[in-house]
Amino acid sequence: MGKREEWGSRAGFLLAAIGSAVGLGNIWRFPYVAYENGGGAFLIPYFFALLTAGIPILILEFGVGHKFKGSAPLAFRRIMKQAEWLGWWQVFISFIIMMYYVVIITWSANYIWFSVGLKWGKDTNRFLFSEYLNISDGVWSFGGIQWHIFFTLVAVWTIIFFILYRGVKSGIEKASKILMPLLFIIMLFFTIRGLLLPGAVKGLNVLLTPDFSKIFDADTWIAAYGQIFFSLSVAFAIMITYSSYLPEKAEINNSAFITGFANSGFEFLAAIGVFSVIGFMSQTTGTPIDKVVGQGVGLAFVVFPQIINQLPAMNSLIGVLFFTALFIAGLTSAVSILEVVIAAIMDKFALGRKQAVIYSSLLGFAGSIIYTSGGGLYYLDIVDHFINAFGIVLAGIVEVLLLGWFFKLRTIREHNNLLSDFPIGKWWEVTIRFITPLLLGIMTILNFYKEFTKLYGDYPLNSLLLFGWGIAISAIVLGLIFKAFPGYQKEEY
Ligand code: ALA
Repeated sequence: MGKREEWGSRAGFLLAAIGSAVGLGNIWRFPYVAYENGGGAFLIPYFFALLTAGIPILILEFGVGHKFKGSAPLAFRRIMKQAEWLGWWQVFISFIIMMYYVVIITWSANYIWFSVGLKWGKDTNRFLFSEYLNISDGVWSFGGIQWHIFFTLVAVWTIIFFILYRGVKSGIEKASKILMPLLFIIMLFFTIRGLLLPGAVKGLNVLLTPDFSKIFDADTWIAAYGQIFFSLSVAFAIMITYSSYLPEKAEINNSAFITGFANSGFEFLAAIGVFSVIGFMSQTTGTPIDKVVGQGVGLAFVVFPQIINQLPAMNSLIGVLFFTALFIAGLTSAVSILEVVIAAIMDKFALGRKQAVIYSSLLGFAGSIIYTSGGGLYYLDIVDHFINAFGIVLAGIVEVLLLGWFFKLRTIREHNNLLSDFPIGKWWEVTIRFITPLLLGIMTILNFYKEFTKLYGDYPLNSLLLFGWGIAISAIVLGLIFKAFPGYQKEEY
């Protein structure tokens, strides 16, 4: 195997890391989650989660990737042989997410087209569910593949394939350097336009006025931690993989803070834009805000088209911009999610990049077809819920416990400090060893309790067992199987 690929510049690495973090989670998930969990009051648990888990884990993952120069399974194996399975577990979590994430990008791509001339008509709810998704009667009714979605999915996979095929520097880095500034400009334009609409302040008041009764609600804290993990791309193995492409001399600590704050900054920018237009909608139609705000998918693909219909001018343009932003944000994150799988199989099975990209894209594409069916939205909803709550967050706990308690964490801190713009103090070790696992542990116990006392989304139990628990557990089992395969013939460290 040749030399490990490297980023061309620090800015390139940062843009790629921020490109991974800023994704679908920032544009439609954050505004809705923040609103549901007490608006302004949500910001307290959110920042708490960012500082007690998000950024400390990011510093950890950047350090591990850089010091041990490997995809997650290889990096963990170099720390401790048995820990390789944790890396594979994270790889499979990413692969499972990738399969449905690409489908949401596909919807965004289609909606760019629908924006031109407002093809969704007046009843945007009916358009999404009956016409576009052609949603089936229930989770056990497959409903057949929706070919119009399928063909766009092929196009989206093709773009991702080519970016990754070109490699770290000419593919991922180049794409991030073009797409991330473009995304920022579009979002800024969208937010300023939103702020200038009548009623914008009404929306912002709702987003930013704290509802302190929610702060004592465990669900708010679970939501905050879940949002931080998903949004920052931590415990997905992504940041370990990306930092393994850093050159010998590279900055770590400051890069983690920059990535964390850029991600949150973008999240706020998007939330301000989204809530301004929601306020506008509420004012123009006389509908209370809580009736305007829909759930995740609904907010982006039902409420937004409705709002776009109501705008006084430039309706199609704003629609195109909003869905293009969603598309770009999703694309750069999807690239990072699949790179995790590519890097892992390249390292273990001594494959070349081209082979690894072909295998993982074909398999990922095959897996994502199920989400283009009439029942696709149900599967997506269940898998997304379980893989986040019992995949990412659980893998995050195992990661901090393993590295905090069975490994000399100080070596990572010293490694990072030697290279970085500023050193991090002992507080970081205390956080990773005690605070992060304690808080995440409490969240997970609460989460299990919630799951066992109420069926998620009122889906039938057997469907939750298969698509929810089944998929989440399969990531662990596949992790163990892949660890057991022979590989790393040329490893010498
Ligand atoms: N971090 C990515 C997102 O927010 C996965 O969507």
